[in-house]
Amino acid sequence: MAETNPSKTDNLRANGGRLWATILETAAFGGTPAGGINRLTLSPEDARVRDWFREACEAAGLTVSVDGLGTQYALRPGRDMSRAPIAFGSHLDTQPTGGKFDGVLGVLAGLEVMRSLNDAGIETETPLMVVNWTNEEGSRFAPAMMASAAYAGEFTTDEILAKRDAAGISVAEALDAIGYRGGEAVGARAIGAFVELHIEQGPILEAEGKTIGVVEGGQGIMWFDGAITGFESHAGTTPMPRRRDALLALSEFALAAERIALAHAPSAVATIGEATILAPSRNVVPGRVAFTLDVRDPRSATLDAMEASLSEAATAIAERRRVEIALTRIWRKEPVPFDPAIVAAVDEAARSLGHPRRRIISGAGHDACNLAAKVPTAMIFVPCKDGVSHNESESATADDCAAGADVLLQTVLRLANAPRAEQPAR
Ligand code: GLV
Ligand code: MN
Ligand code: MN
Repeated sequence: MAETNPSKTDNLRANGGRLWATILETAAFGGTPAGGINRLTLSPEDARVRDWFREACEAAGLTVSVDGLGTQYALRPGRDMSRAPIAFGSHLDTQPTGGKFDGVLGVLAGLEVMRSLNDAGIETETPLMVVNWTNEEGSRFAPAMMASAAYAGEFTTDEILAKRDAAGISVAEALDAIGYRGGEAVGARAIGAFVELHIEQGPILEAEGKTIGVVEGGQGIMWFDGAITGFESHAGTTPMPRRRDALLALSEFALAAERIALAHAPSAVATIGEATILAPSRNVVPGRVAFTLDVRDPRSATLDAMEASLSEAATAIAERRRVEIALTRIWRKEPVPFDPAIVAAVDEAARSLGHPRRRIISGAGHDACNLAAKVPTAMIFVPCKDGVSHNESESATADDCAAGADVLLQTVLRLANAPRAEQPAR
């Protein structure tokens, strides 16, 4: 018999042991000897975890569909199917040296919410949906979070399908290669509200002894592609003053980027995460380098100021070193405030469960930041060890993961069982 008794739902907890077991089980898909995961989006390893997720969802009685960018949606019916589902989830792709929790926790805790509701025989008023967004990481195809951006209308599906990885393979080809280009139009599936559980990926919760971060928004992000053209010449015969060394120009620019971020301390950050000498050779002065630059801050005006300073620094270095520096912004994501009503629901769920909590802004990008443009959205953070993420040593405790899943469950129940008039609307 389906249950609606509020005291029964108030007391409901996720099965933390089962959640932990799924985290360890799926970590085998792309698992590395160092205990991390290398599961780039749309790779064979990603295909395996997607298949696992579909089968687990179907075994839990959910109906799974896939959109034209490979995003998986697993629906649990509600009593009132005219209401748009309360959705939750995250991503199952990882960085090349990723950990076991970034993204994975949010998707598997979403599955665990469904399983726990099934075990307790609880039916919700509003349908529920767990989502695995394609390519959150942006490591293989830029930009990051591309499928949720397309869902929210920031890009067309065709624009995303045409993006290429470093090997020249398009998103369309990669989706077809693993059989995950689904039939559903991107953005067509209605979502009433979205909640994403994630590890913090930073040091604040752990340092303050808080179990739950009630996330109020995400900071802004800019991604640049850079190219420096100097002149290739003989390493033994070219006097130092005559050189037009592209690598030395990049070295100066990297230090300038650090200075510019520090000028907006403590919030701003700047990272050159990829740098390649083209046609490298140990006895040739580097003539061409390509690099990427990631710049973030919670304020739009700071992003503007940093972009202007970076461009001035590039011009000055190029002139002094007689090289060309091309800096092209390929992506800008504005800082995102989350929906106050959904943030309040997360806060209330954490309070009712008795977890130490604090409000927090996300330093990382998340699919929730894109969803927020289209549906009422918020996030839940749990601590990770030493604040380390995007690293194979990334770690979170089973207790904290379970606490996050409980908060997700209680948030979702509050949203899904709210009277229609109080349901999030946009
Ligand atoms: C996503 O992982 C990001 O770059 O914040
Ligand atoms: Mn993530
Ligand atoms: Mn990540």
